[in-house]
Amino acid sequence: KPKIAVFASGNGSNFQAIADAAQIGALNAEVVLAVSDRPQAYVVERAKEMGVETLVFTASQYGSKAMYEEMLKGKLLGLGVEWIVLAGYMRLIGPVLLSAFENRIVNIHPSALPDFPGKDAIGQTLSAGAETAGVTVHFVDAGMDTGKIIAQECFPVNGRSRDEVEAEIHAIEHRLYPATLQQLFSR
Ligand code: GAR
Repeated sequence: KPKIAVFASGNGSNFQAIADAAQIGALNAEVVLAVSDRPQAYVVERAKEMGVETLVFTASQYGSKAMYEEMLKGKLLGLGVEWIVLAGYMRLIGPVLLSAFENRIVNIHPSALPDFPGKDAIGQTLSAGAETAGVTVHFVDAGMDTGKIIAQECFPVNGRSRDEVEAEIHAIEHRLYPATLQQLFSR
């Protein structure tokens, strides 16, 4: 089964859904590393709780993106990681990791891409008065949320509050991300 690393900057509920799915065998993969660019992120505690190795780094302590990505690349290749799974990782991936993991980096984004890429996609969706919200799983390329779409699910906003829309998005994500990865890894 493929070894995967999950990158996250925050709460890590998607990390949890993926790690849980791998543990019960619904996802045929081994989560060998959790990477976070924020030392205080709750995902770090979740990973420790799950017995998953963690790598926490602070980007500002490196001279450039290339420098910290070289560090990450060394760690990932050393562990035999085959896929990088971004789950609320709030940094663009640079050429070092993109070329080391060509077509093997995926991301989940809380909108129906190509609509509302970038930060606060849910806020953007609601401010625009969009009729539908959504979740997209896509390959990562050098752009901001521009890579090839793998799976997408939409639902009507129907005048719901931000909290309600956000809860629905998370519920979809926690089901869609492990299921999409499972399909991707078995093809
Ligand atoms: C998720 O909703 C994910 O789609 C979003 O961050 C959240 C992370 O939640 N990602 C982005 O906005 C990427 N631009 P989590 O930390 O609980 O998994």
